Amino acid sequence: MKIDNLEYRKALGQFVTGVTIVTTCEIDGTPRGFTANSFTSVSLDPPLILICIGNFNESLELFKKTKHFAVNILNENQMDISNLFSSPTSKRFENTQWIKGDLGSPIIKGSLAWFECKNHDQIRSGDHIILIGNVKSFKKKSGRPLGYYSGNYISLNNEQSLVSAIEKNTKTILGLIIEKSNSILFYEDNKTNELFLPSIGSQGEPSNTSSLIKKFSGLGFKVKLDFVYSVYEDKNLNSVCIYYRCKDNAKPPKAYKYIKFEDIEWKKIKDKALIIMLKRYIEEASHGNFAIYMGDEKSGLTQTLK
Ligand SMILES: Cc1cc2nc3c(=O)[nH]c(=O)nc-3n(C[C@H](O)[C@H](O)[C@H](O)COP(=O)(O)O)c2cc1C
Repeated sequence: MKIDNLEYRKALGQFVTGVTIVTTCEIDGTPRGFTANSFTSVSLDPPLILICIGNFNESLELFKKTKHFAVNILNENQMDISNLFSSPTSKRFENTQWIKGDLGSPIIKGSLAWFECKNHDQIRSGDHIILIGNVKSFKKKSGRPLGYYSGNYISLNNEQSLVSAIEKNTKTILGLIIEKSNSILFYEDNKTNELFLPSIGSQGEPSNTSSLIKKFSGLGFKVKLDFVYSVYEDKNLNSVCIYYRCKDNAKPPKAYKYIKFEDIEWKKIKDKALIIMLKRYIEEASHGNFAIYMGDEKSGLTQTLK
């Protein structure tokens, strides 16, 4: 089989990982580090972990000769740090709170867990070096991790909202964000002119994905659910709202219309949480890097993922 690089990377992206910052310091104490998701545990006794560093990384030479390094597991609020440590800037530590570990490696404040290691072994493999560390100290905090899947950040908060909704027996609204050429599909109430996203469940009708697909197929949509884009609790609606990104190529039925991002009349949308979510969606669509959005009707805008 001829390996197509892009498809290969996409297939690897199907594996969900956490996100870490791997750190060490120069001989003069200058802190260095980069974002890595190739972290894994190798052995419990002795306690060994590994990360893989690409040949293309500027810090490779330093990590090859370092005697110690630390792996910091990021929590869901630390997406900015992940972005900072994966972009080409020398100002990574100036903009990050950190302390020195016992061996001297930077420990990123607020991390969900960190492991400080002595360099145990290094294996050159393909275009990466596998760096194996012997853990000398570690710490764990409670919280939720930042996840990474298919080139996007994800958060388990998503799942938590679902679980708490089921536990509380809260009403669930399932909705669709159907985007086509920088436009989003809305339903416009012909009496009030209020705009809504296509959804199901607000009147207490059964809301599960099959009833959602059935309803909109009945209206002539060819709905194909993509990712869950957003999960948030809306206390005003006493609901948990779950919005899917969705593909549809059919002509919209009456009362539904595609509105270009820049032409959306926000005052026609009465649901504040929806406005926040959609503005975020539009911003993310502009750079094509979607993060799952969550929270509640007030602070859901940026609670966890910038
Ligand atoms: C989520 C994520 C995971 C990454 N994982 C790795 C990894 O495991 N190994 C690696 O070498 N680079 C990884 N990178 C890329 C590096 O973080 C990036 O190339 C960084 O700029 C390297 O820093 P440096 O050039 O200063 O060494 C990852 C980037 C992201 C956003």
